[in-house]
Amino acid sequence: MTKILARNVVKIYPSVHGPVTAIRDFNLEVQEGEFVCIVGPSGCGKSTFLRILANLAAPTSGEVSIVPGSDPGKPLNNMIFQEYAIFPWKTVLDNVAFGLEMRGCPVKERREIACGWIERVGLKKFTHHYPHQLSGGMKQRVSIARAMANDPEVLLMDEPLGALDAQTRAVLQEELMSIWEKNRKTVVYITHSIDEAVLLGDRVILMTAHPGANKATFKVTLARPRNIKTTGTAEYAELSYSIWEALKDEVKRAMEVEH
Ligand SMILES: Nc1ncnc2c1ncn2[C@@H]1O[C@H](COP(=O)(O)OP(=O)(O)OP(=O)(O)O)[C@@H](O)[C@H]1O
Ligand SMILES: [Mg+2]
Repeated sequence: MTKILARNVVKIYPSVHGPVTAIRDFNLEVQEGEFVCIVGPSGCGKSTFLRILANLAAPTSGEVSIVPGSDPGKPLNNMIFQEYAIFPWKTVLDNVAFGLEMRGCPVKERREIACGWIERVGLKKFTHHYPHQLSGGMKQRVSIARAMANDPEVLLMDEPLGALDAQTRAVLQEELMSIWEKNRKTVVYITHSIDEAVLLGDRVILMTAHPGANKATFKVTLARPRNIKTTGTAEYAELSYSIWEALKDEVKRAMEVEH
């Protein structure tokens, strides 16, 4: 069943030098329960597209829709950003329970759900800590737990692990995969890393250099459950290389535009 549909999305920003076309006729269809990764050179419009999907910005033309589920109480989407968007004045527990609180979930129930997710992301000991007492990786775990506790129809992630060091990123990639393999949420995940996209995704969508349009789609048929060991297989290496071959030209184009 189709869960997310984007048709001929165009986004033009006004600027002092005249209008800037950020996205040009971008199309995407995501099935329910699918994990789709979007990769493209810097500035190609990935974040713009995700913000349009999240209804945080309007397309200049074209259409986007997220098909609601049977439970009207559930939020349609939940965004996870690169720079841990959590409230500094709230504890881990209150951050994770925030979405549920906003939806009027009774205090006992929301605490139970939040504590379950805090435990699953390995932060039980930090339940009553504040964000400034946490490392970057822990803060991003809080964002992930909050999104999961909120139980949205679709999860939209904009380079959620981009700010983390390589080791923390590898640990969180595995955690994210094991969470997703259990709950199979519909996910649109933006990343700069081909390796990450191939490791996590069912499909990798490649965008062209600015202005972003569809370049290519790659199906990832690597068996699940996956873990870091998956990255050592020949199938993984071959697919990553094919994606890089297609992306390389766009990265070069993006660099030329900058100069
Ligand atoms: N509010 C805005 N006003 C004008 N131009 C903008 C605005 N936001 C983004 N842009 C331009 O739109 C293009 C796409 O930006 P966007 O942030 O979506 O790219 P991106 O693919 O997410 O890049 P990165 O990989 O670096 O995060 C860029 O050329 C950017 O300069
Ligand atoms: Mg971006």
